[in-house]
Amino acid sequence: MTTKKVLITGGTGFIGSAVVKKHVVDGHSVRVLDNNSRGNIRRIKDIIDDIEFIEGDIRDPETVFTACKGMDSVIHLAYVNGTEFFYSKPEIVLDIAVKGMLNILEGCIKEGIPEFALASSSEVYQTSSIVPTPETVPLMVPDPINPRYSYGGGKIICELMAINYGRKYFDKVIIFRPHNVYGPDMGWEHVIPQFALRMKELSEKNNEKNIHFPIQGSGQETRAFIFIDDFVAGLTLAIDKGKHLGIYHIGTMEEVTIEHLAVKLAQYFEKEITIIPGKLAEGGTLRRCPDIGKLKGLGFSPKIALEEGLKITVDWYVKNIDKKPK
Ligand SMILES: NC(=O)c1ccc[n+]([C@@H]2O[C@H](COP(=O)([O-])OP(=O)(O)OC[C@H]3O[C@@H](n4cnc5c(N)ncnc54)[C@H](O)[C@@H]3O)[C@@H](O)[C@H]2O)c1
Repeated sequence: MTTKKVLITGGTGFIGSAVVKKHVVDGHSVRVLDNNSRGNIRRIKDIIDDIEFIEGDIRDPETVFTACKGMDSVIHLAYVNGTEFFYSKPEIVLDIAVKGMLNILEGCIKEGIPEFALASSSEVYQTSSIVPTPETVPLMVPDPINPRYSYGGGKIICELMAINYGRKYFDKVIIFRPHNVYGPDMGWEHVIPQFALRMKELSEKNNEKNIHFPIQGSGQETRAFIFIDDFVAGLTLAIDKGKHLGIYHIGTMEEVTIEHLAVKLAQYFEKEITIIPGKLAEGGTLRRCPDIGKLKGLGFSPKIALEEGLKITVDWYVKNIDKKPK
């Protein structure tokens, strides 16, 4: 395998830190650019001496140009993630999406960097009538007035830029769309840590075997979750073997209901639950599961079953509850 000098933006984030570690293990030389707005250096502390870390904002052109110097490849993950922020600060989501992307592409072009990989999202296609959903379905912003679509709209702009700049200036551009990646230290706002911690609290307060568990939505909404190690394996394949201007869904096709997820998490705490349905956030998708046939064609096969991955994840949250921001 040829080793490369790789810039990873968003490298102290959940996915970024795992991608950084994999690149270090594979012998690549890694530079990370992150402003730690949501990332945390803790996630890469074990390998901090093996990498170069630049703390800075991707909206600042000089910082980005410095970070791009001498690189062979860029993996662009920095973005505002977390559903609550799509609603509370949509203008910042778009500012970081668009200014960040322009700066990174310009930095790559200035430096003559030949390879670029962009983190996109399933939110570019929102709700599809085709499930499992292939990469070819149309992209859409169902309602520009709903601030939620700042996230998906920003990702659509980034995809269009990656492809159209990619055609002209790069040897290889890959777009990857992560679908519900989970694992230890994945943040605190996601459904898995939130359910797990609420379940822990309720089970400590309540000696009954069965607990009442209020959720958003009916519980019949579906998702397919992929454990972080499988995700990183999929991304590595897409970058190494994917086609120039190729788009790849990375996830699993193990579609489960949110109720099923809650039941599995309750089992960890040796409880049974009765779901109390609630209101679904406006714009929330009822059914989502990627078609990963294209990535499978490159040799991808996820290894970690949901039950196993959930155990590893919840173990981490139970042990590290003191790290939860107050
Ligand atoms: N986690 C998932 O399941 C999922 C699903 C779809 C898409 N994605 C995409 O994958 C990427 C990584 O997601 P994640 O789950 O690791 O999220 P994350 O929030 O943990 O990581 C994003 C990182 O970007 C950094 N960042 C944000 N704004 C920045 C700025 N202006 N300048 C520099 N750094 C900045 C944050 O500090 C953070 O470390 C994102 O682009 C996200 O949209 C993730």
